[in-house]
Amino acid sequence: MDLSTTYLGLRLPHPLMPGASPLTENLDVVRRLEDAGAAAIVLPSLFEEQVTGEQLATHHYLESSSESFAEALTYLPHHPELTLGPEQHLEYTRRVKEAVDVPVIASLNGTTHSGWLTFAGLLEEMGADALELNMFQVPVDPTESGELIEARMLEVVQAVVGTVDIPVAVKLSAFHTSIAHFARRLDEEGTSGLILFNRFHEVDIDAPNLEVVPTLRLSDPTELHARLTWLSILASQVST
Ligand SMILES: Cc1cc2nc3c(=O)[nH]c(=O)nc-3n(C[C@H](O)[C@H](O)[C@H](O)COP(=O)(O)O)c2cc1C
Repeated sequence: MDLSTTYLGLRLPHPLMPGASPLTENLDVVRRLEDAGAAAIVLPSLFEEQVTGEQLATHHYLESSSESFAEALTYLPHHPELTLGPEQHLEYTRRVKEAVDVPVIASLNGTTHSGWLTFAGLLEEMGADALELNMFQVPVDPTESGELIEARMLEVVQAVVGTVDIPVAVKLSAFHTSIAHFARRLDEEGTSGLILFNRFHEVDIDAPNLEVVPTLRLSDPTELHARLTWLSILASQVST
């Protein structure tokens, strides 16, 4: 069966590739993924900062609501595997690009406008064939409307698309007021692809210790349906 496709302007033999995760944060594993037939490699996100002023403000807001809740919503990616600093991450991107023949898709999670632009440019310089914008955000400020949040995201996308020459994709969360509308707007801003969907840390109850704890549950096959549903809706609505 011919599964060849074009993704982010990249001609691929098939669309199967490992997504951004700690799996691709090890060069040996990346080589093994390529040997196993991965059509491309998506690197874990470069996080501009582990904790920025904005996120600290979020944290503070949550803390003022409830201390344990704040702790539970530590949704930042605290996985020990994801601790590469920005400089190391850039160097790692360059090494991966040198090591494999398949396209390398970098991923960026910025926190400041200049950070998004600077690191997007640097990832491109390191040889990334395309760039995913991991707009990982849990909006918890009740004074911020969805419109405002999406306008801010669009501003970043517009600026990044205008800065780099490689294709830019946006990784969406499933929690937009109107995914169809936002997808259309991203398309209009020159986004080359959409990734459906990101996964946030959520909370659970540690009953024995009576604590609310952050948790990252891995997906199971039942979750595919929401993605397929939105894929089928958006496929005919956007050109990306
Ligand atoms: C441990 C872990 C680390 C992840 N790290 C990243 C990351 O660095 N950047 C990113 O955009 N997505 C990251 N993701 C999200 C995945 O790429 C994927 O979008 C998400 O897990 C949803 O897909 P799934 O249902 O197959 O898990 C991570 C997911 C997991 C489980």
